[in-house]
Amino acid sequence: MSSVVSFINQKGGVAKTTTAINVSAQWAQLGKKILLIDLDPQASATRAIFGDTEFENTIYDVLTAEIGAKEAVVHSESFGIDVIPSEIMLSGIEIILASKFGRESILKKCLAEIKNDYDIVVIDCSPSLGLLTVNALIASKDIVIPICPEYFSLKGIELILETLKNIHAGLGHKVDVRGIIISKYRNRRIVEQVIRDLRAKHSIPVFNNYIPDSIVVEEAHHKHLPMREFSPKNPAGLALANLAVEMWT
Ligand SMILES: Nc1ncnc2c1ncn2[C@@H]1O[C@H](COP(=O)(O)OP(=O)(O)OP(=O)(O)O)[C@@H](O)[C@H]1O
Ligand SMILES: [Mg+2]
Repeated sequence: MSSVVSFINQKGGVAKTTTAINVSAQWAQLGKKILLIDLDPQASATRAIFGDTEFENTIYDVLTAEIGAKEAVVHSESFGIDVIPSEIMLSGIEIILASKFGRESILKKCLAEIKNDYDIVVIDCSPSLGLLTVNALIASKDIVIPICPEYFSLKGIELILETLKNIHAGLGHKVDVRGIIISKYRNRRIVEQVIRDLRAKHSIPVFNNYIPDSIVVEEAHHKHLPMREFSPKNPAGLALANLAVEMWT
């Protein structure tokens, strides 16, 4: 795994945030220094980790060059990671960035001063392939794509791959798809079918540790705890822990 990895899917609710924060917490427990960037105006990762805490500095201030990235970092004791939080203001940023020179690489530039302080920088993206996500892609060497296994997810992956192709052709930046994360699955037969369809169409790896659907995952968000703390023996907790190891190696 290279040092910056984005969790991407323009489809909403496919467990981008859940996997990003839990895999980060797991890596931290394995002794890695992790920075998680919440790049979603919904601020789900920020809320899941810190509850209703309001932050003076967020990724919005970093991207608008009000402050340096280091000034926006806060630490989460329970997750064992550093975080650059988000806020709803971020929903208006694309229009601000759009007129800037080098608008696609603003995040990458902001991260330059801080990247080397960490083993991994994790970026939790919003459900869109707009300018914010393009900034995440330009800042990343690798991406992972969480999906919920269903027929419609295959079409969504095509759109992501198309975006990566355009970024390579237009901006000369190559992003590696490290793998697809299967999440919130209820039925193994459907998982196998989706994986078969995926393999027939694309040559993207699928991580072996699928995350089962479990209400405990939602409960952990409410308690602002990682699954490794809240319910490590729950099947979803175990799968997330194993996925973290699988992703790392
Ligand atoms: N394995 C799971 N079992 C049950 N519920 C889950 C699981 N993973 C995630 N969820 C729930 O599904 C919902 C969506 O998850 P999450 O917010 O992680 O998705 P997302 O892709 O980040 O969404 P968005 O596109 O809005 O950013 C949340 O309510 C979360 O608690
Ligand atoms: Mg999310």
